[in-house]
Amino acid sequence: MRLELKDTSRFKDPANLTWDRYMTIQTRERERYLAEKATIPEDVLNFKHVSPRYLSNAVEQFANNYYSEEAATRYIGTAAAHAPFEELKKCCVFQFADEQRHLEMDREVFDRAGIPERDWLPAWEQPGTTCRFFRHLLELEDAVEIIVKANFVAEGAAGPGTFAVLADGAEARGDRLSAVNHHSRVRDETRHISYGRALTKALIDENPSNLDVIQKWQDQCLRLFVEVNKGGHRRAWWEGFLASYYKIALPLGLKKTYPLG
Ligand SMILES: [Fe+2]
Ligand SMILES: [Fe+2]
Repeated sequence: MRLELKDTSRFKDPANLTWDRYMTIQTRERERYLAEKATIPEDVLNFKHVSPRYLSNAVEQFANNYYSEEAATRYIGTAAAHAPFEELKKCCVFQFADEQRHLEMDREVFDRAGIPERDWLPAWEQPGTTCRFFRHLLELEDAVEIIVKANFVAEGAAGPGTFAVLADGAEARGDRLSAVNHHSRVRDETRHISYGRALTKALIDENPSNLDVIQKWQDQCLRLFVEVNKGGHRRAWWEGFLASYYKIALPLGLKKTYPLG
């Protein structure tokens, strides 16, 4: 199943970025991030005050953060290489730079927490993580399919609400570095979601029958994500995840894959 936007003028980058504008935004974001990080005392940054139990439980979350970003740099690089028109390619290229920054922020968490690198991948490959979903994305080559599945569905779901929950949870347990990372990443992810949504909407506006394919892609993605709900043990997270996605998907005519509540 391949979708093509025939009239590419239907897609406009909602952030209206140019190289100059992007550099300005990203420089400002980086300065804001470094300023927030500078308020955290060194021993707190180095996880000296969290409970040992927190750290052993958090390795899985650290791996979900780190490897999702690592996957994102790779699949959005593929999308940039295969983008069917310039305006879309430009969005992918700027996102590529964002995801690399997120990846480095998450690597620092693992390093400061003193988690040996050999433990990172096994933590992500165990059941109940985002691994299966992102490995699916990494098999794709079509830019449109990657952007609809990754930016619209996955980032749309793991949007501002979900990252706020993760940030609050980390902060409450004394993990201020993860909290600052989540707040910073979400400011970029919001931009990734909006161009993913703009592409999805353009595809549906141009040809309403594209909706059937997008519905199939959505169903496939959410089914790959459901294991992260751990059989209902992370219900608050899962419902927040679905709710943020449905908020952008239902107005475009998509139907729920899983009911809510
Ligand atoms: Fe990211
Ligand atoms: Fe992103």
